[in-house]
Amino acid sequence: MMVRDNRLYLGGIEAQKLVDEFSSPLYVYEEATIRERAREIQNAIDYVPKQVKYSCKANTNIEIMKIIKEEGLGIDTVSRGEVFASLEAGFDPSQILFTANNVSWDEVEYALSKDILINIDSLSQMEQFGKRYPGGEITVRINPNIGAGHHNHCITGGPESKFGVNYDRVADIKRIAKEYGLIIRGVHQHIGSGILDPEKFIMAMKVLLDVARNIDGLDFIDFGGGIGVPYRDSEERIDIELLGGKITEEFEKFCKEYGKSVILIIEPGRYLVAESGFLLATVIAVKNESNHRFVGIDTGFNHLVRPAMYGSYHEILHAGNAHGESTLQTVAGNLCESGDTFTRDEEGIVDRDLPVFNEGDVVCICTAGAYGYSMASQYNSRPRPAEVLVHEGRARLIRRRETLEDIFRSSLEI
Ligand code: LLP
Repeated sequence: MMVRDNRLYLGGIEAQKLVDEFSSPLYVYEEATIRERAREIQNAIDYVPKQVKYSCKANTNIEIMKIIKEEGLGIDTVSRGEVFASLEAGFDPSQILFTANNVSWDEVEYALSKDILINIDSLSQMEQFGKRYPGGEITVRINPNIGAGHHNHCITGGPESKFGVNYDRVADIKRIAKEYGLIIRGVHQHIGSGILDPEKFIMAMKVLLDVARNIDGLDFIDFGGGIGVPYRDSEERIDIELLGGKITEEFEKFCKEYGKSVILIIEPGRYLVAESGFLLATVIAVKNESNHRFVGIDTGFNHLVRPAMYGSYHEILHAGNAHGESTLQTVAGNLCESGDTFTRDEEGIVDRDLPVFNEGDVVCICTAGAYGYSMASQYNSRPRPAEVLVHEGRARLIRRRETLEDIFRSSLEI
């Protein structure tokens, strides 16, 4: 993303031109950023053997997944759909992990039929797995009793979390494994999403390593994802080199004691794609009512739910007048709920000092590449936007805009 002559360019193309060509609203991704992040994170960890698996819940556009595959990453999946997308993108089953929190046995069976390893989430599931597939191979997800993340909804470790087997249940894990002859290939954890404090990650890592010490014959240990990105210009980036260095140090120490070079896995989602993505929209109506200047745009939380769901902050740019004179404004969506605003926190509207928007202007909502389209819905019966990949002045449609037929066909066909 860059601004030239006060106008916004994505992947070397003027944002306004992208809207002219592909219409509005529109998701745009810069390929260079995805590749850069993928290389950065792999280079940050010196330890070998390692594998960085892309947690594709962040964005399952198959063309984006192909780029990530080209960069040499594996993949973390949580549903039949994500396994399907990963196989379509060309990932080998051996690079895919299926983390199975309360998933149905149909989904597990589908993954197993593709030779994909299942990451067991509870003792109950482990027992049932053992009965169905005695002698099978598994990974076990551990809850290290440490959580972190940008919002309560995204903290996935600790006593309030529904995920994993508590770290002090190793004896039970071993008992069930023995009873059904299950082979524990690896242990896993994911403590939460949007972590900007590396210390929390390392603290949790040590707990998982303590668990691993008590289980013989592990091939890998997976420390999950969660690495945060800056959403505000004022926020600092996590020092990925420093984090990578600490991870390597702890892991090398562990492997020496364990007597084996275990494979180190991490599974970031957001870090790889968040900053590559932008949601472009068009101003439909502006109104100065009550205490706010409402800038109404042609998208809403159906297309980017993070502000409404978590009060998340996303930078907003004026594509055609980036450094224009500013005033306090509320950017509001087109859905029938008052919570449908993009300039807000958890409590409600927080006006933002932005270049003055008028009807027809293009609004650019930044850092929308992770958990943007992948959490989008058809609420208010509006189709989801198209997605475009931009690189060195060229734009490629990577998912067409949905149509009303896409929304209604399944009920019209009954
Ligand atoms: N591994 C597992 C098992 C996960 O559950 C997740 C995310 C990740 C890896 C990747 O986490 P990341 O590196 O992307 O932080 N919708 C929320 C984020 C929810 C993340 C859920 N799990 C948001 O928009 O902030």
